Amino acid sequence: MITSPLLTADVLTKPMINVVSFLKRMRLESDSELIDLSVGNPDLPPHASVIDELIKCSQREDIHGYGNFDGQPVLLENIQRYYRKRYQAEVAKNQIHVIRGVRNLLFSIAYIFVAPGETVLIPSIGYQSYYLATLFNHAEPYLVPMQPEANYVPEVWTLPEDVLARAKLLYLNYPNNPTGSQITREQLTRIVEVCRKYGILLCYDNAYNEIVFDGLSPISLFEIPGAWEIGIEITSMSKLTSLAGWRIAFCVANESIINYIWNYNAVTDSAVYDGFQIAGAKALAHVIEHDDGKRLASIYRKRRDIVMSGFDTAGITYYKPQGGFYMWLNVPEGKTDMDFAAEICRKAQVLLTPGSYYGESGAHNVRLSLTASEDRLQTAADRIAGLI
Ligand SMILES: Cc1ncc(COP(=O)(O)O)c(C=O)c1O
Repeated sequence: MITSPLLTADVLTKPMINVVSFLKRMRLESDSELIDLSVGNPDLPPHASVIDELIKCSQREDIHGYGNFDGQPVLLENIQRYYRKRYQAEVAKNQIHVIRGVRNLLFSIAYIFVAPGETVLIPSIGYQSYYLATLFNHAEPYLVPMQPEANYVPEVWTLPEDVLARAKLLYLNYPNNPTGSQITREQLTRIVEVCRKYGILLCYDNAYNEIVFDGLSPISLFEIPGAWEIGIEITSMSKLTSLAGWRIAFCVANESIINYIWNYNAVTDSAVYDGFQIAGAKALAHVIEHDDGKRLASIYRKRRDIVMSGFDTAGITYYKPQGGFYMWLNVPEGKTDMDFAAEICRKAQVLLTPGSYYGESGAHNVRLSLTASEDRLQTAADRIAGLI
């Protein structure tokens, strides 16, 4: 029998992998009434100009081969314009690498920069790839606690000296999936200082960058002094420009860090299709010229408010999101996250993600994704409220 030394029974039964089959089972048990709010799959279409550009690209004969691995010039230029406009930061072309979505890169980073047995700092509640990338690379995850009172930010400056001394990599993500929290500039500054002091690579996953609420402004890692020394910032076009299926994203770091990634990807991956790169450049241009991130944020803020007001009336408690497009609900005392999600699915026909998917510390919560119309979210909130 063929077996995998990586995907052992122990790994396969971890909630981070197990929850995926739980969600599949729930979907199969349900009927067409199901409102699936388990996945963060943007439901908004890209701008019409982006589709027009893609159609034009598809009719060109010269760009159907392997894509431009160095990045289409128009895309690189628009990434530079984007950084300038959004964050007042100057980025050189050799500090940018265009990638096929963020997810693969999160794994590659662990392979490239961490040796087996070395320590990776992982927020105790977070996007599952951080923990799995560490595990798959036979490195040592060190889970950094997060508390709602500190915006669910891992206060790495409080970690023991010996842990910091052996840490090689820290993953961070704000606006945060799954909690909806946003980091402050002060917190990020303290984290950058720690990473510089101990030579820790800071992987700043800015997948939801512009989706912030209530007067907050988007934050780039490179607004923070010294961040260029130790940081890499990843921006996904899945959420910002609603192009999740196209698999297009980009990372920014100093030239040396980018070169490591470039060399690794050059032998393990291929470039994004040129049509997606050129139309993706159009999408970024639209964001830059029309301040489209603000429009996006206001759509998700309205959706958040609809769900919050339904839950407030019913006495359902949650962490108030400051950004991103998720809500992090508390599971009632005495229930597990899986049981609670299964009950909501069976009785209310709304599918939510059990919080342990994001780490064992998430086992007292479930995550609701705001990627559905206002009407559907209202119905979902009413149905869940009806159960309580
Ligand atoms: C925090 C975070 N990082 C990365 C990703 C993946 O982004 P991409 O679609 O670019 O792979 C997601 C998607 O849900 C996410 O929530």
